[in-house]
Amino acid sequence: MTTTGSLLPLIGILSDGRFHSGSELGRQLGISRSAIWKNIYKFAELGLEVHAVRGKGYKLKYPLTLLETSRIYAGIPDATRSSIFQLEILDTIDSTNSHAMRLIQQGKLSLQPGQYSIHLAEQQSDGKGRRGRQWISPFGQNIYLTMVRLIDTGVIATEGITLAVGLAIIRALSELEVPGLGVKWPNDILVEGRKLAGILLEISGDISGICQLTIGVGINVRNQPESMEQVSQPWTDLYQVTGKAMNRNLLVSQVVCHIMSALKEFENNGLKSFIAEWQDNDVMKDQQVELVTTGSSVQGIARGISETGALLLQTSQGMQVINGGEVSLRKSVLNDS
Ligand code: BTN
Repeated sequence: MTTTGSLLPLIGILSDGRFHSGSELGRQLGISRSAIWKNIYKFAELGLEVHAVRGKGYKLKYPLTLLETSRIYAGIPDATRSSIFQLEILDTIDSTNSHAMRLIQQGKLSLQPGQYSIHLAEQQSDGKGRRGRQWISPFGQNIYLTMVRLIDTGVIATEGITLAVGLAIIRALSELEVPGLGVKWPNDILVEGRKLAGILLEISGDISGICQLTIGVGINVRNQPESMEQVSQPWTDLYQVTGKAMNRNLLVSQVVCHIMSALKEFENNGLKSFIAEWQDNDVMKDQQVELVTTGSSVQGIARGISETGALLLQTSQGMQVINGGEVSLRKSVLNDS
């Protein structure tokens, strides 16, 4: 993979989506025109499409805004900011969740309860989805965010927390006027049956005492269709849904603020204060669905969630309470979980 860091200054100049001549770029970056051309050639590896026109120069097919710590912080009120231990932006990493978990294992995150460590990347080479799936993570187009929080009350206290995170993302996106949002159990964010965002929650440490919650969030912002060819499930992005380019720094600020406030709410009241909101946003409610577990499947009608965040499935055998993330929910129009 390309060492993305060396390309960042060039990407930064071209991020405006306008033409820049080779000589202008060379002058600004203090390198030769042929070095510019060589670097532009590497953009394809990052999934960035460039138009090169004789006499005009180079232009990114899709303009982009690079993530910037100062811009993200600018959108976070001081009171919330004080709970952020660190916020880092990586050019490229295997997975922001794996990276954060490595830092935890190496003892490099000395968080206090209630504090957050936030990790973002412009690109993931091995982005992780739920149930062992890959999360395709092209450069600069989406949000790959991991927030780590220390919990000192054991894993049991986190039951259902992933649903609260899903609703926090819905709240953040609604504030940014994204229409047609819905949640699909346990934690997919959809628009018209197409996946817009997903959450991967991982827990490490002592399951009955101090443990670290690693909350991974992937949000599709503006994907070049070519980079999503391997994604088998129906997907969408904010550009398709709103018709506008989303400011990714602002989006991160909003999502971070809403997740932090939802987790505070969860800590104080548990999942119960989210249940009505979940039912209002639940795209599966009262729908005929098929629940697929390893090796078996069961049909039923989705009847929302229990007080602990389990899926309630009305089947011919009666109401089944489905726990955990080992299941996949299928409906004829939504052919993946
Ligand atoms: C899903 O399958 O719906 C969960 C997708 C979670 C993707 C995010 S992107 C940031 C973080 N790092 C990862 O490797 N995965 C999560």
